[in-house]
Parts: sequence; C-alpha cells; structure tokens
Amino acid sequence: MGSLRSAPARSKSIVITGASSGLGRAAAIHLSKIGYRVFAGVRSEGSAGELAALPPSLGELIPVSLDVTDGTSIARAADFIDHECTNTGLWAVINNAGVCISAPLECIPIDLVRTQLETNVVGALALLQHLLPLLRASGGRVVNVSSGIGNVAPAYLGAYAAAQFAKEALSDALRRELRPLGVSVSIIQPGAIHTPLWGKIRESADQIMSAAPADLSVTYRAKFAAFLEMNEARGQASKTTPTDFADTVAVALAAKRPKVRYRVGLDSWGTVFARRMVPDRIMDAVIAAGLDALTAKNSQQVPAHTALSRAGDHAR
Ligand SMILES: NC(=O)c1ccc[n+]([C@@H]2O[C@H](COP(=O)([O-])OP(=O)(O)OC[C@H]3O[C@@H](n4cnc5c(N)ncnc54)[C@H](OP(=O)(O)O)[C@@H]3O)[C@@H](O)[C@H]2O)c1
Repeated sequence: MGSLRSAPARSKSIVITGASSGLGRAAAIHLSKIGYRVFAGVRSEGSAGELAALPPSLGELIPVSLDVTDGTSIARAADFIDHECTNTGLWAVINNAGVCISAPLECIPIDLVRTQLETNVVGALALLQHLLPLLRASGGRVVNVSSGIGNVAPAYLGAYAAAQFAKEALSDALRRELRPLGVSVSIIQPGAIHTPLWGKIRESADQIMSAAPADLSVTYRAKFAAFLEMNEARGQASKTTPTDFADTVAVALAAKRPKVRYRVGLDSWGTVFARRMVPDRIMDAVIAAGLDALTAKNSQQVPAHTALSRAGDHAR
C-alpha cells in the first residue's frame, strides 16, 4: 500500500478519535469535506447519528463506535476499520480523544487520575497497537493531539498536565521507533480553544470539591476557585477556533514532510517559550503571584456561591 503517499486526499482513509464534540468533530467534518474518508470515533449512538445526518461531503464521514478506555471497543473498531480499508489502505490515525480533570492533586479521586491517563495516553497507544500494521503498510502517519499544557504544568491541572507530558513523551519515542518503518508521527499542541471541554472542566471540578473531605476543600478552595476563574477567562479570551485546529490537522496530513510539532494559537507558543526560557522558580513565582492577586481580589468581593465555594461544607 506504499502508493498512498502520493495519493490525493480523496482516496485516503483516516481515523480520528473523539469526533463527537469540539476539536475532533470540527476536524472530522473538515477532513471529510476536503475529500478524506474519515472513520470518526464516537461513544454514543446519538453522536453517531448526528455525524451520519450531516450533508454529504466530497469525502466520507463514517461514525465508528470507539471508547479508547475499553479494550473490546478498540478491538471491534480496529477490526471494522481493517476490513473497510482492505482495498484502500489506512493513511492516518489522529489520537484526539481526551478529558481534562482540573482539581488540586490531593483532592482528585485516584480513579479519575487513571481515567485521565487512560483516555488521553494509554488509549491512544492501545488503538495504535491495533492499527499500526495498516499504517506501516501504507507508509502513513500518526497525529497525536496534546496541548500547550504538555510544556508547562500549572497548579490544579496536574493530572491533565501529567497526561499531556506523557503523550508528548510517547509521541517522541514512537516517532523515533516508527521513522525507520516509514511511518511519521506528529504532535499537535493546541492552546486554549473554546469547546465543550471547558464546561466539563468546571463540572468535574465542582463534583470533585463537593466530594472532598471538608478540611481539604477548605485548604484549597479559595486558590482553586481563583484558578478556575483565571482559566475560564483564558478560554473565553482565546481567538483560536476549532477551524484553526482542523486546518492544522489537514496540513499535518498532507505535508510532504510533516513537522514534529504543530502549534495552534499564540498561547501554545507562549508555553514553549516559558518552558525553554523561564527558570522553574521564576515560573512558580509568576503562577503564584497571579493566583494570589485573584484570590485576594475575590476575598474582598461577595463570597462566591458556587458548588466549589460550598465544597467545604460537605464531607466525603
Ligand atoms: N479545547 C482546548 O482548549 C484544548 C487545548 C489543548 C488541547 N486540547 C485537546 O484536544 C482534544 C479534544 O478536546 P476538545 O476541546 O475538543 O474537548 P471535547 O469537546 O470535550 O471533546 C472531547 C472528545 O473526546 C471524547 N472522549 C472522551 N473520553 C473518551 C473515551 N474514553 N473514548 C473515546 N472518546 C472519548 C469525547 O466523547 P464524548 O462526547 O462521548 O464524551 C469527545 O468527542 C483533547 O485531547 C484535549 O486534551 C484541547
């Protein structure tokens, strides 16, 4: 299947995970519009139905049931894709599915940390282990979606940052292992882009802090509330769009020599700068100063009455 390298997008089949929402959905739709045959991983029949109901495109959009934390689901999806790609080959796998858990590390139920790592990292590799034979046969490519948070680990995003740093490391090693076998590996690091992910962050944060022991939530809640506020403001202020992300994926899939890393949004570049140029202690001080200032400002205002601020009233 080596001829896929020079084939036009129209005859190329690709897989993208987490296509029901946000960046994955935008990319799946865009890639099918420009001619790819897209196997779009979704977890519910509702999401599959929504994608299937979209108007026909130049390519194809084929919803595939795929939960990347479930070995049986991965094996079934891979068998289906393998069968469907018998004649076409498979050009690319885009590991986009992800969750974002934000809370003080001391408060996060450990199973949620596992879910974070299983979804964003382990699931990506598990899927690739099934699909790499097809990619090796086609001389195809892997595109792993990480984050600017794969460069700098802010307080209260420790679990998410651990997953993104791990995905970066996994991608670096994969790139070095697969290059001699003719498969390229690129990483896409989006900065903040407004998607449903941001609402889910607040929802899970509220749940985690409501369930945390009272003394723990009292210890953390003022600073964590300030962090969430700051983080949400960052998301809302971002001018980067899911379309920018989708365009970048299209570039990574079509480039003659795909780059190791693609950044989407100026803030993603900012984290690269911070990682390379700013000493750790200075970075600690900058992050702490931002949170201290906001915490102080909030304490002078009417007390917030979100589930987060009430969290101290509940014991686990
Ligand atoms: N938005 C940003 O600012 C931003 C910035 C940097 C990096 N990223 C990364 O971009 C990727 C997409 O994020 P997004 O903003 O588009 O978030 P999103 O709107 O919440 O979409 C996440 C997608 O992942 C899917 N997913 C979650 N758990 C899954 C599982 N176990 N198996 C399969 N699919 C699963 C979701 O499916 P369901 O609908 O079924 O839950 C959904 O389709 C993530 O990897 C995220 O870390 C996002």
